[in-house]
Amino acid sequence: MRAAVYRKFGGPEVVRVEEMPKPVPKAGEVLIRVAASTVSAGDHRMRAKDLPRGLGFLAAAVVGVFAPRKRVLGMDFAGTVEAVGEGVTTFKPGDEIVGLTGNAFGGHAEYVVLPETAAMIAKPAGMSFEDAVALVFGGHTVAECVRQCPIKPGDEVLVNGASGAVGVAAVQAAKAAGAVVTAVTSAGNAELARSLGADHVIDYAREDFVSAGKLYDVIFECVGNAPFGRADKALKPGGALLLVIVDLMGMLSAGGQSRRSGKRVIPISFKPKAEDVRFEFDLAAKGEMWSVIDRTYTLDEIVEAHRYVDTGRKRGAVVLRIG
Ligand SMILES: NC(=O)c1ccc[n+]([C@@H]2O[C@H](COP(=O)([O-])OP(=O)(O)OC[C@H]3O[C@@H](n4cnc5c(N)ncnc54)[C@H](OP(=O)(O)O)[C@@H]3O)[C@@H](O)[C@H]2O)c1
Repeated sequence: MRAAVYRKFGGPEVVRVEEMPKPVPKAGEVLIRVAASTVSAGDHRMRAKDLPRGLGFLAAAVVGVFAPRKRVLGMDFAGTVEAVGEGVTTFKPGDEIVGLTGNAFGGHAEYVVLPETAAMIAKPAGMSFEDAVALVFGGHTVAECVRQCPIKPGDEVLVNGASGAVGVAAVQAAKAAGAVVTAVTSAGNAELARSLGADHVIDYAREDFVSAGKLYDVIFECVGNAPFGRADKALKPGGALLLVIVDLMGMLSAGGQSRRSGKRVIPISFKPKAEDVRFEFDLAAKGEMWSVIDRTYTLDEIVEAHRYVDTGRKRGAVVLRIG
């Protein structure tokens, strides 16, 4: 099979399309013919070894120390079940499914093998593979956020980084829950945020939401420039800061900050679950969430796809068409 492989950490050019042996499903495993994946912020972090401060040591088992531990990136996929191992009952050949490879990675290849119990569900029949896969990375992250901090109708919710993969899903999910949503974006992405349901948009180049004087019940921090030390000022008493991006110090201090302030400081960790994949597809079925695809690349264009994601400016998802 063909796969996008990287053997050393570095820039986009370390990734190359190579031939690899096609995997064979063992008992309890599912072989998936991948139609589409995305190149995500997670792939960028793995490839460039660009991890939040202090997390390199903790993440070494997944990322690798001197060389990458996972040769094929890709944290999500949409595709068709090609074969199943002994004992598999949930899926059968021909099923169209969508889900997360998660920390196993491997989505940037023509085939991937996952345990039957992996975070994957049936793809809605009327949805393309590209649209389906574009919902997963951001959507499941937001599912984890709202499990930790359910959003109530009327809540004032701010999404910092509202035009990224996580941000677009956060705006849509908060709006679906009945919140009043403020999106923080660049001026060029204001219209996108409004189209997703944001009631207010703050252009981060003109205004710092932290010192604007308005208070929020929930802040999704998806950028990395609003740790509790800053965001505290913009939180109502009892409010919650969801740290989608957080460094080691932020993780370790969250408990103490919560106790001292009476607010909730919640580091979000990556825990792929099928129910979290279902979350975004349930919202999509109700018309309350839809995919935002910035660009689509083929597997042969993988270096250009990484180069674009590296700009840090993508809107929603960058899709990799494989099948
Ligand atoms: N904890 C977890 O489990 C988890 C899961 C997923 C992602 N993450 C992390 O969460 C972060 C966000 O992920 P993502 O997939 O949403 O990233 P992404 O799609 O790469 O985000 C790109 C977006 O960020 C916006 N942006 C850049 N600087 C900004 C600023 N100063 N203020 C507001 N928006 C800004 C850009 O908009 P403009 O062009 O308008 O600036 C762009 O649309 C990443 O660091 C990722 O590694 C963590």
